[in-house]
Amino acid sequence: MDSMGILSLILFVLVQSPASLSLTVSTRKAKVVVHENTDAVLSCQFKTEKETNPRIEWKKKGKDITFVYFNGKFSGSFAGRAKIEGATVTLHAVTQKDSGLYRCEVSAPADHTNLGEINVTLNVLVPPHTPSCEVPSSVLSGVGVELHCKDKLSVPPPTYIWYKDNKALSTTHTTDTSFSMDTDKGTLKFKSVSKADSGQYRCEASNSVGAPKSCVAHHMKVIEYELSMTTLIAGAVGLFLLIVMCCLGVCLCHRRGCCKKKEHKGRSTNSYNPPPPTRNPKNYEHTQSFMI
Ligand SMILES: *[C@@H]1O[C@H](CO)[C@@H](O)[C@H](O)[C@H]1NC(C)=O
Repeated sequence: MDSMGILSLILFVLVQSPASLSLTVSTRKAKVVVHENTDAVLSCQFKTEKETNPRIEWKKKGKDITFVYFNGKFSGSFAGRAKIEGATVTLHAVTQKDSGLYRCEVSAPADHTNLGEINVTLNVLVPPHTPSCEVPSSVLSGVGVELHCKDKLSVPPPTYIWYKDNKALSTTHTTDTSFSMDTDKGTLKFKSVSKADSGQYRCEASNSVGAPKSCVAHHMKVIEYELSMTTLIAGAVGLFLLIVMCCLGVCLCHRRGCCKKKEHKGRSTNSYNPPPPTRNPKNYEHTQSFMI
């Protein structure tokens, strides 16, 4: 049974191999890695036995399979920015969107094996972009704080380093420092911030493709809780003193005001009333004297 099986396999291979020579499809590079905005060459080579006009198709596998080259034309987003030589396709000015799995399919109806295909993966590298940084502007001391940094566009995904007052925060000495940094996720974690953690924070994204990019530094202010309590108390005492002073002032004014008003009223009534009687008697006297 075993020897028979092996024999039949050998026979099968012998019979099949001449036929498989009729159409072969291969690639020079199954994994293409290029920088953004450069040309990507997706190599596809084939050999036919009898077929003189094989059909060549390129497809791209994304969510669904789309045609890149079909019926002698580039289709969709590839129209006008690609060329084909033999079965090898060159895409011009590639972007991250062009990354993916491509398949070259060759069919040669006249050949015994009339279909062949090869896969080529394209990876478009993108240099770091300015990351978005999340830094709280003020935090209470003693509180746990997390700073975030993200650059979603770079390929390969960047690593992150945080800077405080333009000095790179060390990733190694995590035991004696108050923070921990995740260079892959871009987080900077403080278990408990203290006054000394106040400063200008920024984050830098870097990958192997291009120059590192940093966000603008943001100021994080750590407010001491005790300090805020003392300022609160000082403020309360100050306010209390102010109220007391005001009350005293108002009371004094009121007293003085009352006295003045009383004096004015007394004088006015006294000064207004007496003259007529004094004048009148004089007048009366005058008249009386005239009368006499
Ligand atoms: C190409 O990749 C597809 C998966 O998307 C797989 O089914 C197929 O066998 C591959 N072809 C070759 C020639 O490797």
